[in-house]
Amino acid sequence: MANRMLGQECIDLKTKAISHIHDFFLNSINSDVLAIDLYDEIPTIDYSLLFSENHDERAKSLEHLGKACEEFGFFYLINGVEQSVVEGALKGISDFFELTNQEERSEYLKKNPMDRIRWGLRSHAGENREYLKIVAHPEYHCPSKPASFRGAIGEYFKRMHEVELGLAKAISKILGYEETYIEKEFKLEAGFDVSAMNLYPPSFQSKGSIGVPEHTDPGFFVSLIQDVNGGLQMLTHKGNWVTVNIPPNAIFINLGDHLEILSNGKYKSHIHQVILENNEVNRISMATLHGPSLDIFVAPASRFIDESHPPAYRGMTYKESLELNGSDEIDVQSSLSLLR
Ligand code: SIN
Ligand code: FE2
Repeated sequence: MANRMLGQECIDLKTKAISHIHDFFLNSINSDVLAIDLYDEIPTIDYSLLFSENHDERAKSLEHLGKACEEFGFFYLINGVEQSVVEGALKGISDFFELTNQEERSEYLKKNPMDRIRWGLRSHAGENREYLKIVAHPEYHCPSKPASFRGAIGEYFKRMHEVELGLAKAISKILGYEETYIEKEFKLEAGFDVSAMNLYPPSFQSKGSIGVPEHTDPGFFVSLIQDVNGGLQMLTHKGNWVTVNIPPNAIFINLGDHLEILSNGKYKSHIHQVILENNEVNRISMATLHGPSLDIFVAPASRFIDESHPPAYRGMTYKESLELNGSDEIDVQSSLSLLR
């Protein structure tokens, strides 16, 4: 308990220090400079504290989560998934890209975003990446090769699904609902989770070229892991780009479009992009979209609607947004831009 308290205090101190540095730069430097990523102010949430048996500790960490959701829309999550599980998953992905040949991968070259396993190359409009997309939940689909893939990735999905249910409870509470609200509303027992595993090549083009263009993600939230830091950039509520530098023992969580719709814009799904910052080594990432069940129609909840807050979204099913987002024929785009 003492150690966990210490952990939260460290996070508080770090957050305070960063916010002072932030104020210093805001007050003293031309705001154009801030568009360049001078510092990384992404909050850190300790998953274990959200369920602490100590009432004050739990209340404080739920309050932190509320702030992170409302003021950022994304955060690092520590003590959610073990580092060994994350490392195992990244190794499984790198084995897939290294140990299979082009012919074996081409078996999964599909065009329909609803196909359960899809492999492809994106190399047009300045984009450079090879990807494997697989459905993780309710049924886990995986390529037959390499043998190391199934267990390592399956273990990550299993742990992440537990974390998803935990976050659904915590976020329901901070939105003022019963803890089972989101789980029921999104029908998470049949929630559709799809994972995109990406390989960004080194030195393919000059440093600073686009890996993935600006977009928001559909669904409840996305969990992201990566082997080298640098690449993923988030547009903050203040209009700055920050680079996602995932600390050791953490994963990155980014809230999705359907939570923004459900909360009628209280929690935002933020625009992000991948810029190839490192032109010397490959970068591997895995972004898992944790979604409602495919046919659940998500619209703004009545709690967030009143005379001064009319419904800001028309609402849509998760299936509809995946179809809008997922086709390889169209550019990646925000399903929200189609809804707003
Ligand atoms: C990545 O960080 O490599 C992918 C992120 C995304 O597609 O949003
Ligand atoms: Fe994304």
